[in-house]
Amino acid sequence: MAIEDRDNVHVITHALARDTLSTLRDTSTAQVSFRKGLVKLGRVCGYEIIDGAMETEYVPVTTPLTEITGERLTGLDDVVIINVLRAATPFVEGLLKAFPSARQGIISAGRDEQAGMDEDGTFPISIDYVKLPDINPEDTVIVADPMLATGSTMCAVLEEVLDNQPDPENLFVLSAVSAPDGVLRVDEAVPTATLLTVALDDHLDEDGYIVPGLGDAGDRAFGTD
Ligand code: URA
Repeated sequence: MAIEDRDNVHVITHALARDTLSTLRDTSTAQVSFRKGLVKLGRVCGYEIIDGAMETEYVPVTTPLTEITGERLTGLDDVVIINVLRAATPFVEGLLKAFPSARQGIISAGRDEQAGMDEDGTFPISIDYVKLPDINPEDTVIVADPMLATGSTMCAVLEEVLDNQPDPENLFVLSAVSAPDGVLRVDEAVPTATLLTVALDDHLDEDGYIVPGLGDAGDRAFGTD
């Protein structure tokens, strides 16, 4: 099925997200502005998740002038954000502005080049570090990685998350930029996940970089190469 026809794949179209992503893509954006851009994008994406997925309840509110019925978000205390090291760190910093009471998990995963290439030409993923809070069935879980490229790392990360809690209320895979291969792979591996991305890019190059993409998000955010 084409990506556009999948119900659980959504492109975040907020104008501030599109504006910020253009800054991130621009090669003239230096490290500090890049990192701040990822923080800003995380915040906007967090607000979009609140708008699309969180419920509100009616509550009485007393204004200085009268009594009205106001609305309060419910579920903000049942949010878990998973930081897929390392590029997600500034992205998660922004998400935390939208979900200040979220519990946080950290997963470090990477290509295991020593294990040799798999038959499909990709390297297996080694999970180097996992620290997750207890995830409850009523939780909204947001797994954040700014770049969804081949999807191999994300699939390995999701296995860890689902081992902890197989059926969270909401499971979001959030990225800034996605490649079609990654979206299809994650969607097929974990159909219960909702994939959110600010841009669905064209393809992966032979080194696994997303094109047009924004380069190596971790290196650009942390000033390494
Ligand atoms: N990771 C990145 O940082 N950039 C890509 O283009 C792909 C994976």
